[in-house]
Amino acid sequence: MSKPVILTGLRANNDLHLGNYLGALLPIVELQKAYAGEYQVNLFVPDLHSFTTPIDHSKLYDQTMHNLKIFVATGLNLDDKDSYIYRQSYIPAHSELTVILNCFTYMGELSRMTQFKEKGQGKQGISAGLFDYPVLMAADILLYGAKYVPVGADQTQHVELARDIAIRVNNKFGELFTPPEPENAQIEFANKQQRLRIRDLVNPEKKMSKSDETGKGVIFLGDSPEIASKKIVGSTTDSIGSVNYDYEKQPGISNLLDIFAALSGESIESVISKYKGQSQYGQLKKDVAEVVSKFLSNFQSKLNSVDESALLSKLEYSEKTMNHTANHTLLNVQNAVGLRKE
Ligand code: ADP
Ligand code: TRP
Repeated sequence: MSKPVILTGLRANNDLHLGNYLGALLPIVELQKAYAGEYQVNLFVPDLHSFTTPIDHSKLYDQTMHNLKIFVATGLNLDDKDSYIYRQSYIPAHSELTVILNCFTYMGELSRMTQFKEKGQGKQGISAGLFDYPVLMAADILLYGAKYVPVGADQTQHVELARDIAIRVNNKFGELFTPPEPENAQIEFANKQQRLRIRDLVNPEKKMSKSDETGKGVIFLGDSPEIASKKIVGSTTDSIGSVNYDYEKQPGISNLLDIFAALSGESIESVISKYKGQSQYGQLKKDVAEVVSKFLSNFQSKLNSVDESALLSKLEYSEKTMNHTANHTLLNVQNAVGLRKE
């Protein structure tokens, strides 16, 4: 019997940042530890997703390999025989299944995806790739029958769409896919209260994002501790003059409290009670800057000592094995839709 699958992917369109780390990367590494032996873990770089918005293509390959190293520095255990790391484009079944699933996905559904609306807003020359991106993501999930998909809040809608597509195709052709679990079960499994959404430090109404052109409000995992501290100390707050955890009225302050809690390992309740009502924001900023600096120097020294040859052999083995699994699912689908009789 194959084990149930936990799966996530992080695009390689820029260096990863604190939001990616806390929203998706750390959760899957923690799940790998918590459920060792019970689940299969797939952590991959969706390299084909990386240029749905424009990038510098000369950097993509190196960034992809760098992200794989980041997975290991985060604590992913390469010795776990039930875990796999791979690059999406090295498994052609992802692209093939996308073309098939496109015909079972509605234009209306894709038009409603908030990320498409946000990323396309006010931009000229929006690519069909950006529009179709959630279908490729559905293929990523459904090829391996992933039940749990730890992602940040911005990706919830895409995971739900993958579930809808799976159920729709199953209704038409029989049990081809394992739909990912619904949202509430995903959150419960990850032992979280909600999906995380770390905010941009300059504009805390927005999420922290790799695609941000200036990078001023983003803490990249490659930022020096000094630069990161400056970004925290200079972060946008408000003029209310009292620390409260309230994203409606004080998104900047609430974000700092969340970052502090996530990196220090303290519960958000205890962090709130420590700072609540303080009339100056300086102490909170200083403390967050310190915890972020410590985290970065520790993380970067782990990154420098990643065993690259172990990583490459795990990658080679994973891509071979996952090609096998993905081709098996793809063939079932091809048979069902009438492309094959095998
Ligand atoms: P970005 O939008 O920064 O380019 P990706 O789209 O590649 O990031 O996201 C990779 C993973 O990181 C996804 O699971 C996504 O939900 C998560 N993520 C991205 N930004 C944040 C954030 N600000 N807070 C929490 N999780 C995030
Ligand atoms: N779309 C995700 C993002 O932009 C990345 C991604 C691609 C992904 N395929 C996936 C995440 C499959 C989880 C599962 O963040």
